Formats: sequence, structure tokens, C-alpha cells
Amino acid sequence: MNSAANLQLWVDDALKAFAASKDLEQLKIERIAHFGDKSPLSLASRSLGSLPANERAGAGKLIGDAKAKVSQALVERTAALEAQRDERTLKEEKVDISLRTFRHRVGALHPLTLLKNEINDFFIAQGYGVAEGPELEAEWLNFDALNMPSDHPARSMQDTFFIEPEQAHLVLRTHTSPVQIRTMLEQKPPIYIICPGRTFRADELDATHTPVFNQVEGLVVDKGISMAHLKGTLDLFAQKMFGGEVKTRLRPSYFPFTEPSAEVDVFFNGRWIEWGGCGMVNPKVLIACGIDPVEYSGFAFGMGLERTLMVRHGITDMHDIVEGDIRFSQAFGGGI
Ligand code: DAH
Repeated sequence: MNSAANLQLWVDDALKAFAASKDLEQLKIERIAHFGDKSPLSLASRSLGSLPANERAGAGKLIGDAKAKVSQALVERTAALEAQRDERTLKEEKVDISLRTFRHRVGALHPLTLLKNEINDFFIAQGYGVAEGPELEAEWLNFDALNMPSDHPARSMQDTFFIEPEQAHLVLRTHTSPVQIRTMLEQKPPIYIICPGRTFRADELDATHTPVFNQVEGLVVDKGISMAHLKGTLDLFAQKMFGGEVKTRLRPSYFPFTEPSAEVDVFFNGRWIEWGGCGMVNPKVLIACGIDPVEYSGFAFGMGLERTLMVRHGITDMHDIVEGDIRFSQAFGGGI
């Protein structure tokens, strides 16, 4: 049973099985089979004690040699398979840091949106509502109701985008002032609203003009409203926009829908800058909206948002505002 031939067979089997093992897991199974407690070699080793004393030494040596061969083969194969595994791991888990990755860029709110939000918050905090109106507007609301008769220069083809057919009398609103009319037609005084929104004029896009721009309109109609209320409101608004040190001044001007009318200038960065228009709501406009001008009076103002942004941040080219380059928006901290 424990003949030399048998031992040689077991050793050959074990060596063959180890050599054929493709990975450490398979080698473990073969180790148990050929070198484990229940392997023929181990059983033979354990049965040595039952041999007659004179045979024990010789058989022990044979078995010992056989075990040494198997053990040696196992050590070598284990080392080889471990080296293979390590090499594969290094290759498979390699991180190619030179590879370009596709990063998701994070968007940013446009500075005009930030400005609009800032203005809304400022007026909402004072009890104003935010009103809206359509960008495609009735000619009557954009002009006539604002005391701009049909021969008014602002109605000429140069400034206004008229919409076909002409009989529809629709325009792309040239200012946010028609929202004043819409509000007064829908609401009874007291009225305290602002209306930020998009407006359109047939201008070429250049460093200071854009055919699509934004305004914010303000309208207050209540009992006893005076120009002092207008001035105080504009002062606070200007301070909110340009900082607490800013000064304002009203310069006499003309708008058909306000009487008296004024331009509001701000003293900012060492010079006077024209900021917007304002005035006391023309009684004719109140009457057109069914509001009694004896009982009520009001003020209104309108500013360009692009202009406000350009003045405040020293932006010199309108293209930067309209082109939508995310890097421009990100510079204003509107990251989302
Ligand atoms: N609608 C005027 C414009 O677009 C701006 C304006 C001036 C609005 C005076 C007003 C105002 O409400 O009172 O040029």
C-alpha cells in the first residue's frame, strides 16, 4: 500500500494538479485533496505507527521525501500564482490619471436674474406686489392708455416691433409701463406694485444697446401720494442698488404718462449717471383706468435692468450680458 510506487504516483498527481491550477482558489482545492489531512499522503504518514518497527524508518523516510516534494511544489506554485494575481490586479486596477473625464458643469443664475430677485425682495419687504404682463401687448395698453397718441414718435416703426397683421394692433411691449395700466384696470387703489420684465425695441445690438432688454416698473396709487414719496422711495431703491453712500437727483423731463416727469440720476463712482424715468401719474392715465384723480394720486418709475447692472458692476459691453457665457454669470456668484 505505501509502496514507493504508490508514493511516486501521489507525488506525481499532486505536482500535476498544482501545475494545472489556474488560480489560488483552485490551488487551495488541490492542496486539500493532495496534501490535506485526508489526502493519501497524510493518511500514509499517520499509518506509519502501525508498521512493524523495522520497516518504520525506511517508510518514514520515503513518506517524508514525498511530502517534502509536494510541499515544495505547493510553495512554488503558490508563489507563482500570487505573483500572477498581483500583476493582474496592478493592471486591472490601474488609474489612468491622464485620461480626460467628462465633468458636469454646474450652472449659474444670470446676473439679471439675481438683480431682478434682489429688486423683488427689496420691494416685497415694503409691502409691494410683483405684477406681470404679456410681452406681446395690445398697442392700446402699450401706448394709448399711457397718453401716447398715435402720432407720438415712440410709435414709429423705428422703435417698435409691430406684429402682423396690422389690424390686430399688437406690439412687442416697448416698456413695462403697460403693466401699470393692466394693474389699475384690475385693482382698486391702494396699489403698490413693481413689474420687472422683458421689453423690446428695434435697436441693433451693440456695446450699449440690445433689442431685447429688461425694465422694472414701479407704481403706487393711493390717497395723498406726493412727489416726496417718490423721491424717498427712489432714494432707498438707489441705496439698495448702489450702496448707502449713493446720492440721487431728479431732473425735470417729459413722459406722456407722468405729470410732472423727471429723470432720476445717481451719483456713483464720482459722476452723475442717468438711471431711469419717473413722475407723478398723469391724471389722464388715472381717468383712462377708471380711477378718480381727485381722490387718488400716484407716482411711477421705470429703470433699465441692464443699465443698472452695467453701472453697478462697471460692465462696458452689452454683449457680455446677452451672450450667456456661463463664466460671466459665475463671476457674479450666482452659482447653483
Ligand atoms: N416707460 C419709460 C421708458 O421706457 C420709463 C418710465 C419713465 C417709466 C417714467 C415710468 C415713468 O413709470 O414714470 O422709457
